Amino acid sequence: MAAEPAYVQDAEEGLRLFPAQASSFAREMDLLLLALTAITLLVLLSITALILYYVWRYREGSTAPRPEKRPRIGGYRLELSWSLATLMIFLVLFVWSTSLYLRMYGEPDMPAMTINVIAKQWMWKTYHPSGAREINELHVPSGEAIKLRLISQDVIHSFSVPAFRIKRDVLPGRYNTAWFKAVTPGVYSLFCAEYCGTEHSHMRGRVVVLAADDYADWLTGEAIEATPAERGRELFRSAGCTGCHSDQAAVRAPTLGGLYGRTVPLADGSTVIADEVYLRDSMLLPRKQIVAGYQPLMPSYEGRLTEAEVLSLIAYLKHLGDDTEADRPEGAP
Ligand code: CUA
Repeated sequence: MAAEPAYVQDAEEGLRLFPAQASSFAREMDLLLLALTAITLLVLLSITALILYYVWRYREGSTAPRPEKRPRIGGYRLELSWSLATLMIFLVLFVWSTSLYLRMYGEPDMPAMTINVIAKQWMWKTYHPSGAREINELHVPSGEAIKLRLISQDVIHSFSVPAFRIKRDVLPGRYNTAWFKAVTPGVYSLFCAEYCGTEHSHMRGRVVVLAADDYADWLTGEAIEATPAERGRELFRSAGCTGCHSDQAAVRAPTLGGLYGRTVPLADGSTVIADEVYLRDSMLLPRKQIVAGYQPLMPSYEGRLTEAEVLSLIAYLKHLGDDTEADRPEGAP
């Protein structure tokens, strides 16, 4: 394994009140938080000041005027203007935070490397498109968009990297995604941010952001046995998929070559895009969506395939039937 660069060796891990701003979203997120806090404080302080002032002014025995007949103050104009002003302030905050959320948790707006993350009690497993695998660690190049596909093998966990300002629930039975672009090489803490059992607090890891050269060195030092698609191809045979999904099979099952990304007609007349979610459901919940013209014969592989194996199979199916296998890296175990 290549020697780690100095900024990794010397990095100090640990809790900080204000985590480093190490991703492309960090500054904007902090600015939003600052704006929210400032506005909240302004309202809190002005109301508190008024309360204290009037408590003092109308204390027992003070000479402040107390007319018998209450004078009429204010009016529509005053009420409308301060209602509209606060409405505008909160609408601006709403639009700003929603747009930030959608940008952070939607699809990356630049080409991204997809890394699969599987959470289980109590560890993080990460799977790179190159075939590299890690436990409680994630090495990424700085300045590149990284898309995470997250799933849990048991209970709900939450993938949280404060320095990147991302926190995403990791659910059993469902792919969640998040993405980030790390901007500063260094070592950053990864936490599980959702109570998930006795050793929840130990479910920690570190994200190592490397400069491009160091990342290339790291990658060459990793012992990679097989790419995700190669593992999937092996599994496709050993799990018995070829028994039905091949040209020679006696059972008539849909052919899977070139399936990924296509529109699939279903028996109930609707259609579905063959994406990761569809492929996963077809293996684990085969009765959910029956392909038009086929019998519901496929057995469920629920409990027979691990999440890592499902992701390998998906990586294999993505390349099945196209010639550009090498050009389309995809993260899976
Ligand atoms: Cu996993 Cu808390």
